Amino acid sequence: MIHTFDTVVVVDFGAQYAQLIARRVREAEVYSVIVSHQASAAEIAAHQPKAIILSGGPASVYADVAPRLDPAVYELGIPILGICYGAQLLTLQLGGDVGRTGVGEYGRTALSPLTASITMAGWEEGHSVWMSHGDSIQTPPPGFTLCASTAHSPVAVLEDLDRKIVGVQFHPEVGHTDDGQGVIRRFLFEVAGVTPNWTRSSVIDAQVAAIREQVGTRRVLCALSGGVDSAVAAALVHRAVGDQLTCVYVDTGLMRKGESAQIEATFRAQFAIDLIHIEAADRFYVALAGITEPESKRKIIGELFIRIFEEVAAKLTEVDFLAQGTLYPDVIESGTKDAATIKSHHNVGGLPEDMQFVLVEPLRLLFKDEVRQIGADLGLPAAMVWRQPFPGPGLGVRIVGEVTRERAEILRAADAIVLEEVANFGLDRELWQYFAVLPAVRSVGVMGDERTYAYPIIVRAVTSDDAMTADWARLPYELLERLSTRIINEVDGVNRVAYDITSKPPGTIEWE
Ligand code: XMP
Repeated sequence: MIHTFDTVVVVDFGAQYAQLIARRVREAEVYSVIVSHQASAAEIAAHQPKAIILSGGPASVYADVAPRLDPAVYELGIPILGICYGAQLLTLQLGGDVGRTGVGEYGRTALSPLTASITMAGWEEGHSVWMSHGDSIQTPPPGFTLCASTAHSPVAVLEDLDRKIVGVQFHPEVGHTDDGQGVIRRFLFEVAGVTPNWTRSSVIDAQVAAIREQVGTRRVLCALSGGVDSAVAAALVHRAVGDQLTCVYVDTGLMRKGESAQIEATFRAQFAIDLIHIEAADRFYVALAGITEPESKRKIIGELFIRIFEEVAAKLTEVDFLAQGTLYPDVIESGTKDAATIKSHHNVGGLPEDMQFVLVEPLRLLFKDEVRQIGADLGLPAAMVWRQPFPGPGLGVRIVGEVTRERAEILRAADAIVLEEVANFGLDRELWQYFAVLPAVRSVGVMGDERTYAYPIIVRAVTSDDAMTADWARLPYELLERLSTRIINEVDGVNRVAYDITSKPPGTIEWE
C-alpha cells in the first residue's frame, strides 16, 4: 500500500509480546509493523522506520539458539527501544554485561529511579512495573546511563540519548506496569521524534485511495459472513468504489437469529449496496444429514459454501476482484508462528482458492480493535461492529451430533436468549464469547405433571485476549438463573440448562 505514515518496526523475539507492543504503538497513533528477528538490517531499513522496538522473548540470551539481531541494525542510526529480552540483547551486542544470576523477577516489582530520565518522567521511588525475566543486565554498554534498578535488576532502565537507544527490563506494553503506555509514548515522541499520523480518518482515507487505485473502474465481489471483518471490508470497499461492489450473503441455516435481517437492513437498506442473498439452508441440512464427525461436518460446510459462492460468481462475468477481511495478525511474517492445528478452520465467507480473482484486502494492515473502530466510523451498527467472534461454520460447530433443521432451530432460539441476557447484564463487551451449545444427549425431566425427555442446552461464556487461551467466565448467579428459566420456558425441546466450566486448554472454545 502507498502510505505516508511514520512507521515503527517491532522486531519479534518470540512469545506473544510483539503483537501487544505493535498494538500499543498503534494506540499512540503511530503505524507499526512486526518483523521476525531473522530480518536483516536491510530488510528492516526497507520499511523506512522512524524507530525500532525489540520485543521480549522466552529465550535466555545465553541459550545456544538465542535469537539475535543483525548487528548492522545498530549502525542504521534509527532510535531503538529494547524491552526485556530486547534490552538484554542490545546490552550484550553493544558491549555491556548480562548475568545469569539464577534469580529471576516475575510479576509486579518496585522500581528505584536513580537519575532523571525521559523514559521514567515523573516516576517516584517504588513505581510499579511488570517483570518477567531470568537473566538480568549487570552493566550497561559504554555510553549508556544507568537510570533505574530494582531489588534483583541492577540495571532496569538504561539510556543513551546521543544514539537514541533505550532499554527497559520491565514490560511497558502490559497494563500491570503503571504508566507503561507513557514509556512507549515518550520513546516514540521525545526520543525518536515520530509523528503520530496513524489516525482513524487517515487510515480510512489511505485505504480508500489504495482500493480506488487497485480497482479502477472494475467490479468487486465480497462475501458477507455476518462477522465484523467481512462487514468492515465491504463498507470500506463501498466507500471507495460505491456501486462497483456486489456483496453475496449465503444463509447456510447455521447463522444466528436475526443475522440475515441485520445484513439486509445494513447493507441493502442503509448502504444501498448491491446484495445477493442466497437462501441455502435446505442444501446445508441435506448435505449434513447423518453426519456426526466434527471434522467431516466442518469440511462439508466449507465446501458447500464455496460451491454456492462459485455458482453465484459464475453468473457475474464482469467481476475481477474479491474483497476479503484478512487481518494483520493473519499476515504477520514472524519467525515464531505456532503451527499446531487442533481444528481445521474454515472461513466461510472466505476465499475459494482456485478462483480467478485478484484479492482486495483492505484490512491487511489492521488489528481487530482497529477494524471495529473503523467500522463504527464508517457507519456500521454497533451491534455488528462489537459482535463477538463467530466461527466460519456457524452454529454447525455448536450442534454436537447430527445437524438438522429442528436442532438448528432449537440452538438458534437458545443462543438468542444467551446473547440478549448477557447484554442485559451489561457483560457483552467484557466477555470474549458467549453462546449456547446443543449436545447430542437427552435427559429425563418433569414439566407440569408430565415426564419430559429432551435436550439440555449448555451455556458457554469465556474471557480471553486472543482465543489462544481462554477462561470460563464467572457469570453472576442471577444471570445463570435467568438463562436457565428463559431457555426452558421459551425453547421447545429443551428441559435442562448446564454451564460449561472448562477453560482452554484443556477445552477449546467451540465444542467441535
Ligand atoms: P477454538 O474452538 O479452537 O476456537 O478454541 C478459537 C476461536 O476460533 C473461532 N473458530 C473459528 N473461526 N473459522 C473461523 O473463522 C472456523 O472454522 C472456526 N472455528 C473456531 C472460535 O469461535 C474461537 O473464537
